[in-house]
Amino acid sequence: AVAAGPPTPFSDFKALAASSADQVEVPEGFRADVLIQWGDEFLNSDGTKLRYGFNNDFLAFLKLDGKPDEGLLFVNHEYPAPFFQHGNKGPGGKTAEQVELEKDSVGNSIVHIKRVDGLWQVVSPSPYNRRITGGAPDCAFTGPLRGTIQQNADGTPIEIEATAAGSLANCSGGITPWGTTLSCEENYDGYWSTTSSFGYGWANVPGNDKYNEKTYAHYGWVVEHDPYDPSSTPRKHTALGRFRHENTAFRHVAGKKFVLYMGDDKAGEGVYKFVSDREFLPGRRSHNLQILEQGTLYIAKWAPEGRRRFATAAAGEAGGSPVTPESGSGEWVKVEQNELVDTAALLRKRIGTAEYDLHFSTNRPEDVEVDADGTVYVSFTNNSGSGVWDFHGSVRKLIEAGNDPTALTFTWQDYAEGGPTGRAGTGEGGFSSCDNLVFDSANNLWVVTDISSSSLKGSISEKKYYTYHGNNAVFMIPRSGPNAGVAFRFANMPIDAEGTGPYFDADESTLFVNVQHPGEVTPDKPTAVYGDASTYTSWWPAGNKTAGLNPSLPRPATVAITRVKPGTGPGDTTIPP
Ligand code: FEO
Ligand code: CA
Ligand code: CA
Ligand code: CA
Repeated sequence: AVAAGPPTPFSDFKALAASSADQVEVPEGFRADVLIQWGDEFLNSDGTKLRYGFNNDFLAFLKLDGKPDEGLLFVNHEYPAPFFQHGNKGPGGKTAEQVELEKDSVGNSIVHIKRVDGLWQVVSPSPYNRRITGGAPDCAFTGPLRGTIQQNADGTPIEIEATAAGSLANCSGGITPWGTTLSCEENYDGYWSTTSSFGYGWANVPGNDKYNEKTYAHYGWVVEHDPYDPSSTPRKHTALGRFRHENTAFRHVAGKKFVLYMGDDKAGEGVYKFVSDREFLPGRRSHNLQILEQGTLYIAKWAPEGRRRFATAAAGEAGGSPVTPESGSGEWVKVEQNELVDTAALLRKRIGTAEYDLHFSTNRPEDVEVDADGTVYVSFTNNSGSGVWDFHGSVRKLIEAGNDPTALTFTWQDYAEGGPTGRAGTGEGGFSSCDNLVFDSANNLWVVTDISSSSLKGSISEKKYYTYHGNNAVFMIPRSGPNAGVAFRFANMPIDAEGTGPYFDADESTLFVNVQHPGEVTPDKPTAVYGDASTYTSWWPAGNKTAGLNPSLPRPATVAITRVKPGTGPGDTTIPP
């Protein structure tokens, strides 16, 4: 168990009720300020104009030595929104300019920030400020598959060149103890596809058809960045496999090989562990920068079964008790080198579908985080497939045998479960569809929810399962004390938005949250007209649709949540007993 540190400014608040308002709501005593939003310009030290990208997802706050009121934000921009960016939904019929706009809006941002009178602002110009986009710079490949030709699961050849142009589909990510960040290319297919029926259709534009994603394995990797060095080359590590990478969570134990945990965010896919050939050696930077280049990748084999299943859709809707056991054991099964290029599909082929579905499939792993005591927490967001019926998801603990990060066996136990049943007698509902996780030093687990917009479209019958939850939200779960295990609603997101990447600053006086895809359902509405904000489902952050204020283009943005009176500490509001 982890000892709880003293309360932080965030461990004590009056929990919110569910909401459908078009705004970011925080408890009494807190404020939420937009720090930077899609399209905002910031400058590097040459005076080059950089534009903050679309759909901010992963976020890390990185310290600058000797500067307690400054830091760097490393941010992923997961995917574009063609309708909001230029009106052409695609994937066909886009102009080259429209494709460039989309490429420019994905990738990553590194933003220098400083705190003035308790509030954060962007430092511009700054030598740290940088954009990586869907087209630049050239990223280098490392590891066993660099510059090789491999086979897709369907037997066709797929080439991994020495470099790839830019990075895309970066969902969540992670940090390393040697001062780099990792971003995870997740839903990488659909950008450079040459079939025009799905995705963004970049390859459909003449002169822009260089990368057929069936032929080149340029995306779908974990990418390592050095945010402190704006001239550094991002590196894509083939040793970590190629699947729908959600995030990474490291574990370092002195004298043991360095370990990285990762989830494959797709219904029915698995949880992975990479064991480096190297140890992390503090201060040995050139050694440490090679840690992710060589090692062994494993996938978790769960017993008695990986998925948490419910007897009926109605039972899953209620949450609570599944028909499958809520604890068990497991082992780590090695991924072969030739499976790294298309990991899940090639593993499924080797292992066989029935065996894979029973012991390797899970209910869609989103974030994986490692607690201070070495326990691994996995956010299984949901799996509404027939016969699984897990609409609300759960958080599972995985404990390595002997608490050894390199162990080949483990035990597991379900910890927090989603669903409408909140604390007895309060009328509040619990979380649903857990996504990113973060721990604070007071032993609280923070969970953001991602009920996907597609589940909320009126035509989809699943909508009713999520009505109780209202808009997506940020929850806090104390792990000790009288309220241990209870999910308290800390913040509500605007319409159709998801709060991603929650991250505390170094002194835990600010919680940064990325508000991703506000108004996302808009292009699916037959009434949507590009340029006419009255037809958009959200007007956040410039306006507020439910309040009828200032019809505006919705923009993803990074928000800083602080106490109204910074420095006065916790205590002016309380969690209801
Ligand atoms: Fe992009 Fe796994 O959510
Ligand atoms: Ca998302
Ligand atoms: Ca996610
Ligand atoms: Ca999600």
